[in-house]
Amino acid sequence: MDTIQKNLNYKKYVIDSDLRYFKPHASKIEKTFAETIYSSLNRDTKYIDSRFFYDKKGSALFEKICTQPEYYLTRTEIGIIKSIQAELSALVDCNFRLVELGSGASIKTRLILDVFAGLQDTVEYFPIDISEILTESSEQLLLSYGNLRITGIIDTYEGGLEFLKNYDDKKNLIVFLGSSFGNFSPSDGQAFLKKVNSTMRPGDLFLIGLDLVKDTQILESAYNDSKGVTAQFNLNVLSRINDELDADFIPKNFAHHSFYNKKDQRIEMHLRSLVNQSVIISKSHLVLNLKRDELIHTENSYKYTIHQIRNLLEGAGFYINRIWLDDDDAKYFSLTLASKA
Ligand code: AVJ
Repeated sequence: MDTIQKNLNYKKYVIDSDLRYFKPHASKIEKTFAETIYSSLNRDTKYIDSRFFYDKKGSALFEKICTQPEYYLTRTEIGIIKSIQAELSALVDCNFRLVELGSGASIKTRLILDVFAGLQDTVEYFPIDISEILTESSEQLLLSYGNLRITGIIDTYEGGLEFLKNYDDKKNLIVFLGSSFGNFSPSDGQAFLKKVNSTMRPGDLFLIGLDLVKDTQILESAYNDSKGVTAQFNLNVLSRINDELDADFIPKNFAHHSFYNKKDQRIEMHLRSLVNQSVIISKSHLVLNLKRDELIHTENSYKYTIHQIRNLLEGAGFYINRIWLDDDDAKYFSLTLASKA
């Protein structure tokens, strides 16, 4: 009955009968962060993995980005989900649980939970998120849903998927919303989709939200909002490194820099050094020297055509059940439902 023995690398935290978490050992995570930062900054072309944006402050800033008028992604995806709720309820039966990759405190999760709540007496929700904010969003959800049981996995997507594979035989609707997939390079993305595919059983479903290629102006405004929330979000990663790795970045010595790279079909975000400067990152044992105007690459956010979405998923072993778009004129965003081919 209890298959948790297979997930020995995780510590289990039981909050109450409706809520528990699994988390890999903390020392493992911290070591990885310091080492990863060392190797991504101790080189000519410097970068910081965009997964490190999401500490508590960064996750809150991201939620704020989602409500900015220029950031069309969230509201467009919400519109699509609302329009397909009835269709979804015909596709999942009482044996499904909802698994979410990169869970948020978001309304999108609620819209899908509403579908489950209409079909099931007890709804099971498995959020997988690297951020501890998972614990807060879970508690919020439990306040709204009387019949919800949450098992949170505080880990990378890959780690969480592996955990799920070893967990039990219940059917899964795995959702990966918000174009979070857009952070993967094409090769990492393909490997990730194969990983998702390999954790699925026949009958399981995968719902993925992807942002579409569109006019450069619209894309660039979405990542350069007029209130500067995206800039704050980008700069916050430096404060996180200060806090967690004992570093002395001075955020005002950096500027947010973001643009659409048409050739590679991606928004790029960078932090530009405004002066010649030297930064100590103690826990990474690194002294970082930056020249004025030197860039630290912090994010890629890929955009896709429908044709590319088909190729991506089919290439990873999926059968595409359905691709939904927003309003026929705009075609800003897509939701794709797929199963194992
Ligand atoms: C969470 C990766 C989908 O790329 O649009 C938002 C992150 N970065 N604004 C995106 C983000 C800057 C977001 N994703």
